[in-house]
Amino acid sequence: MAKPTTVHFPKNFKFGVSTSAYQIEGGWNEDGKSESIWDYYTHTFPQRIVNLTSGDISCDSYHKFEEDIANIKRLKVQFYRFSISWCRILPSGHPNKINHAGIDYYNRLINALIQNNIEPVATLFHWDIPLSINNLGGWCNPITSDYFASYARVCFKHFGDRVKTWITINEPILIAMRAYGGAQLAPAYDSKGIGSYLSGHGELLGHMKAYHIYDKEFRAIQKGRIGITNDARWGEPATQTPEDIEAAERYMQMDLGWFAHPIFSKEGNYPLIMRELIDTVSKNQGFDQSRLPKFTPEEIQLLKGSSDFFGLNHYNTVAVKHGNTEVPPTNENDINCTTFYDPSWKTNGSELFRVVPWGFRKLLNWIKNEYNNPEVIVFENGFAGNDTETLNDIDRIDYMRSYMAAMSDAILKDNCRVTGYTFWTLMDNFEWQDGYTVKFGLHHVDFKDPNRKRTPKRSAFVYQDIVVTRCLTNPIPDRFLH
Ligand code: BGC
Repeated sequence: MAKPTTVHFPKNFKFGVSTSAYQIEGGWNEDGKSESIWDYYTHTFPQRIVNLTSGDISCDSYHKFEEDIANIKRLKVQFYRFSISWCRILPSGHPNKINHAGIDYYNRLINALIQNNIEPVATLFHWDIPLSINNLGGWCNPITSDYFASYARVCFKHFGDRVKTWITINEPILIAMRAYGGAQLAPAYDSKGIGSYLSGHGELLGHMKAYHIYDKEFRAIQKGRIGITNDARWGEPATQTPEDIEAAERYMQMDLGWFAHPIFSKEGNYPLIMRELIDTVSKNQGFDQSRLPKFTPEEIQLLKGSSDFFGLNHYNTVAVKHGNTEVPPTNENDINCTTFYDPSWKTNGSELFRVVPWGFRKLLNWIKNEYNNPEVIVFENGFAGNDTETLNDIDRIDYMRSYMAAMSDAILKDNCRVTGYTFWTLMDNFEWQDGYTVKFGLHHVDFKDPNRKRTPKRSAFVYQDIVVTRCLTNPIPDRFLH
């Protein structure tokens, strides 16, 4: 039998757990909150969500946040990443009317976290755009970036004395691809290859404006940090042919690079290959202008360096093959690649995921090499269980431990500057179009119980042990197996 090994995380490495407002809060129309696109979408098109569910009540964290904090405290993590609901504090979407009940809610949450020695990490936008702003086109309308910046200022003003880590936008690419360029997420505009780039452009400008407001008006006094969090898949060449190797690199540049290059590269702007390819392909397809919008020279400068850390959400690896047969325009058609899961990769019982920890290590190394080894904070990583999952969630434990081991190799052997890890998610919650059928939580939530009883799964104890000991022991200690 192999000798047990132990990996120690660096001294200042931080651990956390993550949630988002629409997915856990409920209280959708309480105390002056207005409708977000997700309230409207789930109420108007219930059939688009598995089992016709919504986030109307969800985990009821609007009323039960103290219980959440007790559970977070038991995990012994250093920070809690939550998101602020724009419509809860600005019901019109604009700062003309501030909803003090909403401000109060987040004040109570933030204060209770601090009293319990848990650092608050706040995301400004985790997909729940005010309906009134979406009615004007949402992120496809360039003015939304200004509205977002005004909302961000309100948050800095009210919470920035205590919140020292801000995330502007959560996973801009998923919103671009699935909400505007696809139909999986609200508002489901399904404008492939056009709305995707347009909304993505708006999100980048919104991020940029919020960053500079913080930088100019708040940083000196509040002394916090602000950045964006991108989600990224690792793109593994499907074969070792030069075509597939090149296609995989193109995929990385036009997937993660779409949102990372303008901010983290030396030259700024969209990756050159993305600019050139989409300009050319658009022309060949008869468009009289590129489907990828252009930044002004000033915007290129303002975007460059506009993130104090490289926020990263990672779940999955895809195999990338050269060539694409989709009807254009689509993003993958622009990249001229096809992505899929290699059938040999483990599933751990999840239809949605493959368990490919080495992809995480490769991704971290790609970021290190591409963007000059920035400080990376992993703000999400987690495993999708299905309806049959029990409290004995060994599949999640296996996923978590193997991904953390891959990350520790990237840190300790490859010198990637990863300084934090956040598990998605504290408890089972509203998983967007999958409703409550896909479960990511360290805690089980009984959605049939009006009290929404939370119960720790086995993974919660394993995570707590890693956090407390600051190390990962292989094989897994016996006490977690029985
Ligand atoms: C999102 C979460 C989501 C998770 C699991 C991430 O893309 O930020 O809101 O629940 O993935 O699908």
